[in-house]
Amino acid sequence: MAIRTTARPTAKGTSASFVTHLECSATGERHPAGALHGLSKAGAPLLARYDLKRLARAVDKAAIARRPADMWRYREFLPLGPAEPVSLGEAMTPLVPMPALAKRLGVAEVLIKDEGHLPTGSFKARGMAVAVSMARALGVSAIAIPTAGNAGAALAAYASRAGIDSYVFTPADTPEVTASEIAYYGAKVWRIDGLVGDCARIVAEGTREKGWFEFTTLKEPYRVEGKKTMGLEMAEQLGWRLPDVIFYPTGGGVCLIAMWKAFQELAEIGWLEGPLPRMVAVQSTGCAPIVKAFDAGEPTVAEPWAKVTTDIHGVRVPNPLGGALVLDVLYQSGGFGTAVDDAAVHATRARLAAEDGLHLCPEGAATVVALEQERAAGRVKAGDRVVLFNSASGLKSPMPPMTRRLASGDVDYSKL
Ligand SMILES: Cc1ncc(COP(=O)(O)O)c(C=O)c1O
Repeated sequence: MAIRTTARPTAKGTSASFVTHLECSATGERHPAGALHGLSKAGAPLLARYDLKRLARAVDKAAIARRPADMWRYREFLPLGPAEPVSLGEAMTPLVPMPALAKRLGVAEVLIKDEGHLPTGSFKARGMAVAVSMARALGVSAIAIPTAGNAGAALAAYASRAGIDSYVFTPADTPEVTASEIAYYGAKVWRIDGLVGDCARIVAEGTREKGWFEFTTLKEPYRVEGKKTMGLEMAEQLGWRLPDVIFYPTGGGVCLIAMWKAFQELAEIGWLEGPLPRMVAVQSTGCAPIVKAFDAGEPTVAEPWAKVTTDIHGVRVPNPLGGALVLDVLYQSGGFGTAVDDAAVHATRARLAAEDGLHLCPEGAATVVALEQERAAGRVKAGDRVVLFNSASGLKSPMPPMTRRLASGDVDYSKL
């Protein structure tokens, strides 16, 4: 069956770009829009800046509400301009209510935004849809990425759809389903002995050698823009009133940076009712560089996490390039970082599947453990409305094998 591509929004001004320039996140130096960019001259991530006044004159909430229910409905907040999106059908993801959990913890409401419904089964689709669209519009023919797995799968799928070659480097112990998925989408993929930082080194060297365009987290500016749609979509789904607290499983931290950017843009054009949320970075006790830096009150991750012991792949980033930006979000929003134990995460994932019918990825289950932990510690209050992010479908991570068998001929029903 052919994939139905998204209808272009018809509201006035939608194919205009409202991006004025790209800004160095460290120095504020301006770089021109409409050209290929990696890091800024100062070696820091670039952030797209918009003419928000003009944007707010071109679109309003009612016009957005009339558009197809997908991420392109927020097109004015994206950098595409007249470029055609590379789309695989990025439907809006549900906010699943968790009333029993909320009641048990004594908070007002808990919602899980289930990003497992996106193409390739993870939130990475949002960033890749926009970044690959921009890469295609700017004439890129080969892209390379280091990845814990899900970003590689999303890149491979969107690159194939765009007619771009993709080169993917992933740690040796990446789950088989994800590694196979990347290859199945037509990427050239390799398992690397080491962590994602080792993969990043290979990508950087290979880029110099082979002329690939580098998609390493935050080294190009448009994945952040695509991931903003997580925040824009949640805001719209909640009637433009944000929750009190948001928990996000944090590796490179792009989603925290992106959601906060989206909230600030919405606040600046006066679309939000009520205050901004507190943002919480959830990591594992086996790799928690952001939490450690936050607890020490530091502005950046000064030293990589020395000994990585977690098997929660998405949060296994010992030296995040965007550490300073993530910490800034935590400080500015009045949020915090919190690290959870892997064993509790795996037990919670299994419990939620068996008791609530909700199959979270380990990273998503980590946010549930973090909420339980922080409610007990008092950093989440009784009246709080909380949104947790399940960043991928549970089906992308291994489950315990099912080994029970019955001979079909002679079933003893008293034993079932
Ligand atoms: C399932 C999952 N959750 C969370 C993350 C962390 O995302 P980020 O690196 O943007 O913080 C990843 C990254 O690989 C992931 O695959």
